Amino acid sequence: IDVVEVRERLLKWYDANHRVLPWRSIAAIEPDRSKRAYAVLVSEIMLQQTQVSTVIGYFDTWMKKWPTVEDLASATLEEVNQIWAGLGYYSRARRLHEGAVKIVKELNGEFPNDRDSLIHQLPGVGRYSGSAVASIALGCAVGVVDGNVNRVLARVRGIGADINIQSTTEHMWSLADKIVDPERPGDFNQAIMELGATVCSPKTPACGSCPLRLHCVAYQKSENQQEKSSISS
Ligand code: ADE
Repeated sequence: IDVVEVRERLLKWYDANHRVLPWRSIAAIEPDRSKRAYAVLVSEIMLQQTQVSTVIGYFDTWMKKWPTVEDLASATLEEVNQIWAGLGYYSRARRLHEGAVKIVKELNGEFPNDRDSLIHQLPGVGRYSGSAVASIALGCAVGVVDGNVNRVLARVRGIGADINIQSTTEHMWSLADKIVDPERPGDFNQAIMELGATVCSPKTPACGSCPLRLHCVAYQKSENQQEKSSISS
């Protein structure tokens, strides 16, 4: 596939179709990198097990109470759990708080600067959230893979392998790192997540409105199938 063309088409689609979300606005206009990283980390940790529509309200309440990582570090775990109440998986909140304390006490108030440091230095930050924060908040050219991205990439590249086995996961991550747009990695990653969440749905994907259909192996195959059945009928 033509990677340059895929990037262009996906970003053009994203520019015209993306949802305006509070953490996206912060990532776009906040000049301070630690503030961007803080907001994006909070959003991505919340989004890991909770849907966007629910996260918006929690995110706004959280950011109003603790606008900076220093504010979060000086909160108590009880306060944090109170604001988190209803989101479930409370270990996520505890680790966010621990990470804030570590950043303030051990890292001079500065967020780690790339994916690997985020993963290694912050509790609860794994490959997914480390990559999301690095690309969206810090502009690092790293790919991200979640369930939606996994499906989009498998379809576009015609990967029929079981997407749940470890070797396929590794393959998807290396593919995501190669395909990400180095100029706009955060927008590219959010675009591919958003495409998977909206157009490229699991059961009945809306290929007619997909910016990548002409580059998609699964779409080409389904076209050929239809052609064959219309010839034979
Ligand atoms: N799900 C996980 N991260 C997301 C993001 N940045 N935007 C929308 N949905 C998401």
